[in-house]
Amino acid sequence: MTVPLALGTAPAPRSPRHREYVMCRPDHFEVTYRINAWMDPAKPTDRALAVAQWEDLRDLYLRLGHTVHTIEPATGLPDLVFAANGAVVIDGKVLISRYHHPERRPEAARWAAWFAEQGYPEVVQAAFITEGEGDYVPAGGAVLAGSGFRSDPRSQEEARALFGRPVFGLRLIDPRFYHLDTALAALDDDQIVYYPGAFDAESLEVLRELFPNAVLADEEDALAFGLNLVSDGGNVILPEPATALAAKLRAHGYRTHHVDLSELLKAGGSVKCCTLEIRR
Ligand code: ARG
Repeated sequence: MTVPLALGTAPAPRSPRHREYVMCRPDHFEVTYRINAWMDPAKPTDRALAVAQWEDLRDLYLRLGHTVHTIEPATGLPDLVFAANGAVVIDGKVLISRYHHPERRPEAARWAAWFAEQGYPEVVQAAFITEGEGDYVPAGGAVLAGSGFRSDPRSQEEARALFGRPVFGLRLIDPRFYHLDTALAALDDDQIVYYPGAFDAESLEVLRELFPNAVLADEEDALAFGLNLVSDGGNVILPEPATALAAKLRAHGYRTHHVDLSELLKAGGSVKCCTLEIRR
């Protein structure tokens, strides 16, 4: 009798959950300063293309049934398109960012005004440097917090107090992966994906302990900005070149969708950077 090979077995499919996002159309997109290793002001950018790519991403979220809010773009704030950096929202409580670089500091007031307009009762301006979901990744009941390049680790106590959730600090060590969301993403409440090379040894221990079932990405996946993905628990949206990572995620039961955000990558951002999740 032949025993069927387990290799061909399809993984159990993961279930998507409805999500609410905020995005900012890159109407004023350009690269005029250099605040991360990916930015080169000498390299030309194509704003119309950036807008078209961004619209494809927004349309995909809508097709998947998600809610997408927008914040008004602003002249002189080319990085406002990276909405993920504006705040962290958990249980309807909003921690407004305090940006590391002076070039981006005026973005914070825009976000504070937006959340106030939407009627959020608890909108707190961070006391220490923190860049929203760039360095805070809510995963299950916990919050993972990156530092090393942008966010001040002292901000973690503030997040712990505001959200009443355990916050685990993680140290980033590779300047190419300057925000936590360039090296790690939550796939579902019980699963994350990360590139180990971006973290120090102690952080890797924390991650292994918390998420023994994590999907591990390699350097090639990370350089394609593959970790800068958005997952609704079932669908994973990731940059086009991250094909190897996409195959790994499908093997874990996720449906993968590729978007081309090559213009936004010139500023060091991709799918996740353009997407701030609101958790009511
Ligand atoms: N140019 C922006 C910066 O360096 C890119 C931000 C990308 N956002 C993110 N969530 N990683 O601040």
